[in-house]
Amino acid sequence: METKIFKVTKDSLDILREASKLLNSGELVAFPTETVYGLGANAYDGKSCSNIFLAKGRPSDNPLIVHISSPEQAENIAYTCDLYYKLAKAFMPGPLTVILPKKDIIPSEVTAGLATVAIRCPKNEVANKLIEISNIPIAAPSANASGKPSPTCAKHVYDDLNGKIPMILDGGSSEFGVESTVITIKNDVITILRPGSITKEMLGHVSKNVQIAPAVKEELRADEQALSPGMKYKHYAPNASLYLIDDKSIDFIKFTSKMQRLENCAVMCYDEEINLLENKNLLPVGKEKDIKKQTKNLFNLLRSADDLGVDTVYAHLPKDDGESLAIYNRMIRACAHRVLTSEEQHKGGTNG
Ligand code: TXA
Ligand code: MG
Repeated sequence: METKIFKVTKDSLDILREASKLLNSGELVAFPTETVYGLGANAYDGKSCSNIFLAKGRPSDNPLIVHISSPEQAENIAYTCDLYYKLAKAFMPGPLTVILPKKDIIPSEVTAGLATVAIRCPKNEVANKLIEISNIPIAAPSANASGKPSPTCAKHVYDDLNGKIPMILDGGSSEFGVESTVITIKNDVITILRPGSITKEMLGHVSKNVQIAPAVKEELRADEQALSPGMKYKHYAPNASLYLIDDKSIDFIKFTSKMQRLENCAVMCYDEEINLLENKNLLPVGKEKDIKKQTKNLFNLLRSADDLGVDTVYAHLPKDDGESLAIYNRMIRACAHRVLTSEEQHKGGTNG
């Protein structure tokens, strides 16, 4: 199948109509959102949604997010509650996904057999217009091949899914760069299953009771059931071995300079550190304090690491709170929990 890419804005009505025709006839369309690109199908059509899993190579027990163009549309597909509407008032449209009990109209292919459905109202004019014109809710995971970093531009989608889907809508690079914050709500308690740009502190303005699921920061124990199936899969992993350096106990520049001499490695450094390192395979993440920029760059840099063909990648261990938690969560999984807290711990080479 030929994969066509179209540059779009919300006013590209002809192209958006063509995309909605494809969706309504059971095909898949990749589209931009403010977080990452999504791979969309008609959420009412189980067969189309199962094709998403095929195109991505996604495990069939990992459910999809259903995208709507206004918070009230949740009524068609889920059982809402007061807290849902409080959250909607504060954060929708925006990078927040809320898990609610599902209605029968949503096929089990979307929810991987769960009794709940994930709902999100994206804040991206193209995404919104596409949902509106299509007149259906759109089920969409991130538009990457399963296991790869989520795509933050149309080229990433093309690199992963060329030949597998008919259309990619190119709306430029994603505003936020990490996937939405995924939460469950029970009575007045909000639990964060996946951290994103809507932080615990921000959610705290809507409910006093916000907790973070343990698997956000730690490895899931073998006997532990994932609250969100996505938690149990290895994700975002570059081909090279990624190590996170705890710079409270290791001098980052001294250590990575040494590794630059000893290994075929890349270094994800702060902009301020560029001149302190050898100018070879550097992947600057942004200024140390500029968490927004670092978030936006993250997946592109993890993809670039693969293009460099290095054996190892070194990066700072991100902070695990506030806006940084989203980066921490992705990086800790990308490195398969290889965090270096002392130089002695590191054997060097590519055996990690
Ligand atoms: O920003 C985003 O959320 C992007 C854009 C395209 O909207 N989408 C995205 O989808 O990241 P995906 O499929 O890559 O991640 C969805 C996450 C997975 O970890 C999945 O396990 C979880 O949401 N999820 C979906 N439905 C769920 C449910 N009913 N219960 C628990 N977790 C659920
Ligand atoms: Mg994904």
